[in-house]
Amino acid sequence: MKAREVFLAILTDLARSIQAAALYPETHQRVKEPLARLHRMVRNEAKRLGGSLRVGFLEDRIVVDQFPFNASSLGIGRLAARMAARGIEKVVLGEAVTLPEMKRFVYFVAGAGDTDGSCPWKQISFGRIRGDDPPEFPVTGAGEVPPAPQVLAGATDVLKDVLHSIAVKGPLGNVEEGRDIVAAVMKGLREEEFLIDRMIRLQARDDYTVAHSLNVCVMVVAQAARLDLSEAAIRDIGLAALLHDIGKELVPAEILNKPGKLDSGEFAKISLHPVLGATHLRKISLGSDLPVIVCYEHHIRHDRSGYPTPRFPDVPHPASLMTQIADVYDALRTYRPYRTSLDRETAIGILREGRGTEFDPALLDRFLEMIS
Ligand SMILES: [Fe+2]
Ligand SMILES: [Fe+2]
Repeated sequence: MKAREVFLAILTDLARSIQAAALYPETHQRVKEPLARLHRMVRNEAKRLGGSLRVGFLEDRIVVDQFPFNASSLGIGRLAARMAARGIEKVVLGEAVTLPEMKRFVYFVAGAGDTDGSCPWKQISFGRIRGDDPPEFPVTGAGEVPPAPQVLAGATDVLKDVLHSIAVKGPLGNVEEGRDIVAAVMKGLREEEFLIDRMIRLQARDDYTVAHSLNVCVMVVAQAARLDLSEAAIRDIGLAALLHDIGKELVPAEILNKPGKLDSGEFAKISLHPVLGATHLRKISLGSDLPVIVCYEHHIRHDRSGYPTPRFPDVPHPASLMTQIADVYDALRTYRPYRTSLDRETAIGILREGRGTEFDPALLDRFLEMIS
């Protein structure tokens, strides 16, 4: 492999490890695999380059040794942004770097580890590039760099695989990872005051259904957490919200991503996603009926209009109504191929117009109070 290809592989595995570290413990395969490769490649390259590998993180570029990589590609932009959030402009990795030290650095950048400032860095130094760019710069550990709050930054990548795997493999799909994401959402909401707002602003960069599912999950968990419910109930509701649009995985992508208005045939196909998703989820043992219910009902409005036509008098379930509110709010706030995103006040105004018809009034009031 040429140096440039190896450097790209290093950046890709660095980005992957950091994303996974935001969600998973170090024993998880999603962390272990890229981290082991990263460690091996870094050691080899540092040795080849005379003892250390230097990486610069600039606003729109990452430079490894002498090679620039454009931040607009391959998750590299996200890596650059994450480093910037940590105040890291430059990292120097020594050839004797150990796997535990590499792991500690990855968890530190992910904002997920026990970043014990007293433990010195031996083979990794990092910090800002100063005026005349000294060859080495002092690193005093975690204390110097502002904490990165992006607890869910790796979640969309994981969720993309989770949704796809559940939709394609059915009962063999990885529901456990979905639960991990809900746990991370609950943790994120406890730790980050403005999580909802931040999630919504993140989403334009990602696959729409994936980012949307995660946002809706965050907003539904936040609503559920304000009700007098047990942790287990909130977790179930969160998983249901996370999977509410799983049926879209079964709708052709050309229709889902079509710019411009849908014709009636296309709309009919998209409108099937609640039924397709619920039918699919029914085959999977999820430990609760809620994902099937929410998936089926999330486009049924409070006044029972919408789709599919409800067959029972006692629907929609409150979890479906909470999901429906978050669903509409997120859709309004997001850029779509057929319209731009709306600002918060406009989106809130539209939700208010549906109070008592489209949306359950008590749940809507609580939601608006939460996001205002
Ligand atoms: Fe939907
Ligand atoms: Fe949705």
